[in-house]
Amino acid sequence: MRVRVLGSAAGGGCPQWNCACAVCADARRTGRNRTQDTVAVSGDGSAWYLLNAGPDIRAQILGMPELTPAGRRGTPLRGVLLTTAELDHTLGLLSLREAARLSVHATATVTAALSAAFPLRPMLARYTDLDWRDLTDPLELDGGLTVRRLTVGTKRPKYAVDAPGDDWVSALRLTDDRTGASFVYATCLPEWTGAFDTFVAGADEVLLDGTFVTDDELTRATGRPGRAASMGHLPMADSRPRAGGHPGTRFRYGHLNNTNPSTGADVVVDGAELFGP
Ligand code: MLT
Ligand code: MN
Ligand code: ZN
Repeated sequence: MRVRVLGSAAGGGCPQWNCACAVCADARRTGRNRTQDTVAVSGDGSAWYLLNAGPDIRAQILGMPELTPAGRRGTPLRGVLLTTAELDHTLGLLSLREAARLSVHATATVTAALSAAFPLRPMLARYTDLDWRDLTDPLELDGGLTVRRLTVGTKRPKYAVDAPGDDWVSALRLTDDRTGASFVYATCLPEWTGAFDTFVAGADEVLLDGTFVTDDELTRATGRPGRAASMGHLPMADSRPRAGGHPGTRFRYGHLNNTNPSTGADVVVDGAELFGP
């Protein structure tokens, strides 16, 4: 299995265009750049899937040699798996409208939001033949990956606060059918429930919600209101001890908000490869 972090930031990226908090200012000074949360996965190195499609997707794809078109037209990309309906996870679909065909896997709740409140699906149908499918549990992907799905949250995007449905935020567990290696993707995780603890048990690698280190980080850094808990993000300070209960599993953090100053080895950067090539 291959797992490449194409983008490691939360919505807005880092530096965020209109932010001069300490982390954004330092990123400008040093030239560091985090693009928005998207991960590329493959079971066989030739059929690739995206976990979410953020607004930086074009540059992210161009920066990944494995996604170079074969022949005059084409792509090794087979599809996109959406774990939320948030703008930072879905806007990239608009930039994939040149595709001849891609599958998009999402829960019925997310697909409904992207059909009505934010009508990406009917819009894109005018441009390309996206094959929208339910993100079933389990789901078999080309290239020998099996995906399990767990609903971890019900936070709706701001544009869909009144929309119906329960399966708004998912964690995914991908297993390589040949080697048994497994990877859990949970970059939006509101709480560490017993069900989530079981979901990650025995995994080799986990990419966790690294939006904030502490619950009050956003207000401390920018003066803007908003606690991590109310935004559906379990702070790293609270997930680290829970991760510590799984000594055989490597936990790393992605989807960092621009206020998150973390630089440790358990924080991924753009381009990180979670399983060796
Ligand atoms: C989130 O992760 O909480 C959302 O993506 C917030 C946003 O970007 O608006
Ligand atoms: Mn987000
Ligand atoms: Zn900032």
